[in-house]
Amino acid sequence: MSVNGISNTPNADELQDLLKTVESLIIPYIQSAEKDSYAKRTLGHPLASSGNAPRTALVESHAPEKLDKLLGLDLPLEGVGKDGLAEVVQKVLTYSVNTWDEGFMDKLYASTNAIGVVSELLLAVLNTNVHVYQVSPALTMIEKYTARRLATLFGFSNQEAGGISQPGGSASNSSSIVIARNSLFPSTKSQGHEGRRFVLFTSAHGHYSIEKAAQMFGFGSSAVRCVPVNPQDGRMDSRQLREMVLKSKEDGEVPFYVNATAGTTVMGSYDPFDEIADICQEFGMWLHIDGSWGGCIVFNQEISSDRLKGAHRADSIAVTPHKMLGVPMTCSYLLGKDMTRFWKAMTLPAGYLFHNDPSEEIYDLADLTPQCGRRGDALKLFLSWSYYGSSGFSTRISSAFARAEELYTLLESDQDFELVSKRPLPCLQVCFYYKPSTNVDVNGKRTAEITARLVRKGWMLDYAPGPKGEFFRVVVNAGLSDGTCRALVNALKEVGEQVVRDGL
Ligand SMILES: Cc1ncc(COP(=O)(O)O)c(C=O)c1O
Repeated sequence: MSVNGISNTPNADELQDLLKTVESLIIPYIQSAEKDSYAKRTLGHPLASSGNAPRTALVESHAPEKLDKLLGLDLPLEGVGKDGLAEVVQKVLTYSVNTWDEGFMDKLYASTNAIGVVSELLLAVLNTNVHVYQVSPALTMIEKYTARRLATLFGFSNQEAGGISQPGGSASNSSSIVIARNSLFPSTKSQGHEGRRFVLFTSAHGHYSIEKAAQMFGFGSSAVRCVPVNPQDGRMDSRQLREMVLKSKEDGEVPFYVNATAGTTVMGSYDPFDEIADICQEFGMWLHIDGSWGGCIVFNQEISSDRLKGAHRADSIAVTPHKMLGVPMTCSYLLGKDMTRFWKAMTLPAGYLFHNDPSEEIYDLADLTPQCGRRGDALKLFLSWSYYGSSGFSTRISSAFARAEELYTLLESDQDFELVSKRPLPCLQVCFYYKPSTNVDVNGKRTAEITARLVRKGWMLDYAPGPKGEFFRVVVNAGLSDGTCRALVNALKEVGEQVVRDGL
């Protein structure tokens, strides 16, 4: 117990005491998801449990005004101590979405795992900053080592290859844009754009972080050109990319950067990297691959060899282990073929912080990144990678792909669904409409209503706009049990029938 914020017992004892308290709450929380998943497997829907609203292990869902009341947030004058802490932690758990539950198929991540929790704890204990080597020697070496190993997996085998960790895929993408511009046009570092009308290309299915970065860095949204995708497979149409680059040059603009995607956010498509690399080479443009979602398939040779073909020709690649690999949020890397280029593009020699000798290997990693304060996120990948091994990651990926195929087959063989995704599935998203045979048209409003009602049954899915209105996008994250896909299809049909009966 602390007095006026200052501990009157040694910190280690206090920590041990608090950890025991918190452990007694988080372990049952995780177990509840496991039990509920068992029910889903057998019954097609989760056990109902008591609460203030329809409650499943996945979530007790409330509108913000009601949640505000239920949480009763307060920051008191006198500290609440251990007992108060237990109450607060329990409330946070009760009203959060339990991503350990298999019904969480909403986003491009799901729960972490035991080693993930342990790695976060270790980072919290170290509580250091990976900006300069002096204060975080081990974590610096781990970041450099994991980045190099990742870079090698992608085929960046030269001595200068490596990478930096970034707080998420969006950050990796944005940093790549600055590095590209500063590398290709070094004077922009001090002089700005000097009237050049820079242009960036991304596919029409690319992530919004590219446009956001263009707004942040003074290019503006209009500098981002969306290259149409092939309607069959959602891959960037490289022929149109080339035409758009030519047109841009004719108009006196300065096309300098192409973002290709390895695993698009909705459809999971992989762009044709070799064709795009040819165009970048022809026009001297930087090729970045946003592999934030689908880059991690690199651990599985069988799945990645076709999909990532040509990726080694990129100048930079974003890869985000907090999505497909179950490493805790956040953990992302921006990999590069040439870290000297990264350093030249990014360095800003703040003498009070960096004491690197620039002629030598860089160990003060913040001199390569926009951030000064940097978490040691690489430790989380390192611990997970060493705990499971490369082969563990590979199996994780192949089993998730097998489950996505299973879901696809179930939907395909049922007349109540119309698939949007095509075979072979590019990644772990399965996209489809609910289309009962009694109804002629698919209906986006119906998708939204079914999604909302499914939450009350312990399933959280997402949907995205399509040519015929909103369609379901289910993300088959790793670790689904036997029967979960079947149970999801049952739940979709049960709720779908109700929604149609109710007039949608
Ligand atoms: C293809 C792609 N790129 C970038 C991102 C952004 O990653 P983050 O959420 O880590 O910023 C996402 C997010 O899902 C994504 O799907």
